[in-house]
Amino acid sequence: CRKICVMTSGGDSSGMNAVVRAVVLYGTSKGCDVYAVYEGYQGLVDGGHQIRKMDSHSVRGFLSVGGTSIGTARCMAFRERPGRLKAAHNLVKTGVDSLIICGGDGSLSGANLFRSEWPSLLEELRKTGEISEEQEKLHKNMSIVGLVGSIDNDMSGTDITIGAVTSVHRICEAIDAVNTTALSHSRAFVIEAMGRHCGWLTLASGMASGADFIFIPERPPAEDDWESAMCNVVKRHRDLGKRKTIIVVAEGALDKHLKPIKVNDIKDILTDRLGLDTRVTVLGHTQRGGSPCAFDRILATTQAIAAVDAVLAATPDSPSPLICMNENRTTIQPLMASVEKTQQVAQAIETKDFAKAISLRDNQ
Ligand code: F6P
Repeated sequence: CRKICVMTSGGDSSGMNAVVRAVVLYGTSKGCDVYAVYEGYQGLVDGGHQIRKMDSHSVRGFLSVGGTSIGTARCMAFRERPGRLKAAHNLVKTGVDSLIICGGDGSLSGANLFRSEWPSLLEELRKTGEISEEQEKLHKNMSIVGLVGSIDNDMSGTDITIGAVTSVHRICEAIDAVNTTALSHSRAFVIEAMGRHCGWLTLASGMASGADFIFIPERPPAEDDWESAMCNVVKRHRDLGKRKTIIVVAEGALDKHLKPIKVNDIKDILTDRLGLDTRVTVLGHTQRGGSPCAFDRILATTQAIAAVDAVLAATPDSPSPLICMNENRTTIQPLMASVEKTQQVAQAIETKDFAKAISLRDNQ
């Protein structure tokens, strides 16, 4: 029978547990042995008790729990070949023939590298006597399937990533809470949202909470003097009788001169120019925590089922698949092409080539 390993990697996101649960329940219903790697790639490198056989009891209660109960890590050892050699050895010892990895673009590009190196890793293990010739032959194929778990919604190839919608709910709840105190004191609040290079969380939560102004990396303010542009909007809203002001700022926001836009600078501008009593709220990891919303539970479950089906359908020559959602349908995209495009967008933003970043994103 097939032996499938499921793991979560990189920053956690709500819905990762639903992925693990569905892989275990659906995989075992298809006659597969399902294992979980605890602690992400670090667990793969360490092996032993970090790779555990799972059954329905192991994932009881997982569906509604946020984060990842099998743990995750940003692992340095797996970035080096000796770490990947250890990981390969551990998988061969367990007899695993496929890996389903739920993580962000960094985790998924690591997965792709691992698969492309697989034959040479086995060869090296055989040459050093750690595995036999027979084991090398038996395990010559390793299937890798990716699922995108990230609050940032920054992955090319898919319309939405597992955990992003829950995170927007969290941000909106926080802004709703801030609204009541802002209204009471007639204050302005500058709220920093996560997202790394991607402004999706800020855009979505800004729209959903009726923010006065947002700053995102993909569309820096057009004006040289964005400070005045923002103040004009805020003043107009105040003149209409608004008692509160909400500005949402993506952590990666930049102005058109490539300078980061920081929440404390905005606070000072609102205070000095408009005389508003202003506070800063950095939402931090509250955005990543808590129970997954229904959408993320459903997305995670349907995509995990598609991942098991992709494992069962994989051939040695087919490229590693990435389970995606496009126009409300589950689709399969080539993992490496999606990772490469995602990294191109991040690089375009880093090198301030916004036109390229926008056109790459628009064509995703
Ligand atoms: O990629 C998810 C994310 O939450 C980003 O939005 C944020 O920049 C980063 O991870 C924070 O990383 P850490 O949890 O390691 O501080």
